[in-house]
Amino acid sequence: MLGTQPAMRTETPDGPDARPLRSYGRRKGKRLTARKARLIAELLPRLRPDFSGPPPADLRTLFARPSQEVWLEIGFGGGEHLLWQARANPDVGLIGCEPFINGVASLLGGIDDERLETIRIHDGDARDLIAWLPADSVSRAFILFPDPWPKKRQAKRRLITPQLVWSLARILQRGAELRFASDDMKYVRDALHVIGEDEAFAWTAHRADDWRVRPADWPETRYERKALSDGRKSAYLRFRRL
Ligand SMILES: C[S@@+](CC[C@H](N)C(=O)[O-])C[C@H]1O[C@@H](n2cnc3c(N)ncnc32)[C@H](O)[C@@H]1O
Repeated sequence: MLGTQPAMRTETPDGPDARPLRSYGRRKGKRLTARKARLIAELLPRLRPDFSGPPPADLRTLFARPSQEVWLEIGFGGGEHLLWQARANPDVGLIGCEPFINGVASLLGGIDDERLETIRIHDGDARDLIAWLPADSVSRAFILFPDPWPKKRQAKRRLITPQLVWSLARILQRGAELRFASDDMKYVRDALHVIGEDEAFAWTAHRADDWRVRPADWPETRYERKALSDGRKSAYLRFRRL
């Protein structure tokens, strides 16, 4: 498919005023421990990208230590997957987005314990961060077990929409990978449809095990473990940015 890359994306499909519905549940859980409250007050401000100005022309310079490429995780929950990837890929700069402050505090605990210098955090809606990021700046994106919003009247709250897929196509580099997982097979089918409709992405699976079996460089998430203990299997989708 080389040479058929869709034109670079510079505008939103619905115009600049289109505001998506809230895709997450609560922002606060139980009271934070003193240590976590301190990390939120002191460490988080140092790791937040500064939206008050333009992003760096070379996004790899956003990190405290030089990185070869930049990966993005949307909805990292407690940050277990993000920490695993940071440990396994010390040359990669990772940006994590999560509006649930207790999850952010857990990730900060891991960053602080392990003195990791390759993670930045946006503690809000990933769509605001994506709108700020430069085009062609990210080489891998993870959306793992997004809230399924299973009731029909809630479906509009889902993260995977044509608009999100469109904006991911804008920031992902050619050849980049988009990973999606869910234990909700209706969401999996809908995600395949929505992402497959966008000419910028191709699903990479050739046989059933390519989406039924989690690859070795893709650790189990907390939500996935919970789904499995409740008897639900998951699907693991990988798309290539064309
Ligand atoms: C079901 S949890 C899964 C968490 C984690 N990925 C896992 O697998 O354990 C979905 C997470 O996505 C987050 N989320 C939902 N909408 C989001 C958005 N627009 N931007 C960033 N995170 C979002 C929620 O706050 C929640 O923590």
